[in-house]
Amino acid sequence: MTKAVCPGSFDPVTNGHLDIFTRAAAQFDEVTVLVTGNPTKNTGLFTVAERMELIREVTDHLPNVTVDNWAGLLVDYTTAHGATALVKGLRSSLDYDYELPMAQMNRRLSGVETCFLITDEKYGYVSSSLCKEVVKYGGSVTGLVPDAVVAAMEKKMRGEARG
Ligand code: PNS
Repeated sequence: MTKAVCPGSFDPVTNGHLDIFTRAAAQFDEVTVLVTGNPTKNTGLFTVAERMELIREVTDHLPNVTVDNWAGLLVDYTTAHGATALVKGLRSSLDYDYELPMAQMNRRLSGVETCFLITDEKYGYVSSSLCKEVVKYGGSVTGLVPDAVVAAMEKKMRGEARG
């Protein structure tokens, strides 16, 4: 049984993330999308619970994908859950420079491997923060984030609660 974890803040999940989850799910028996951050602290546009709910909604069709939250060291989670790999998307050399020390540190701490999947060219420029900025100023991110996320972002920006 191969287990992998896709970690991130996912505030909110984009189609680039979803593409990585889907491809990871084809390579590993079980994949956990791990939303990092303290669920009692509101640090982003969406609460941790809202981010998790959106990811559950958009990964519903992937039977070997589950969603969890962790506020500690990533390797403590992977070790405790028997996950031997972290899976992340790599959009550019900027991502590589950011990810390399984390991959090396995580491997040193626990032996966990980091597997990088090259981002699909459709999503090479897509990030949660850029999408938030576009929506904030009234632009459209349709096609860049799942439809459920478009709706949730527009609702948030209008100051309404989700539900
Ligand atoms: O989506 P992000 O914010 O770029 O993801 C970064 C993340 C969550 C992967 C990184 O911040 C992380 O691993 N946080 C958990 C705490 C931890 O283990 N830090 C040491 C990393 S070497």
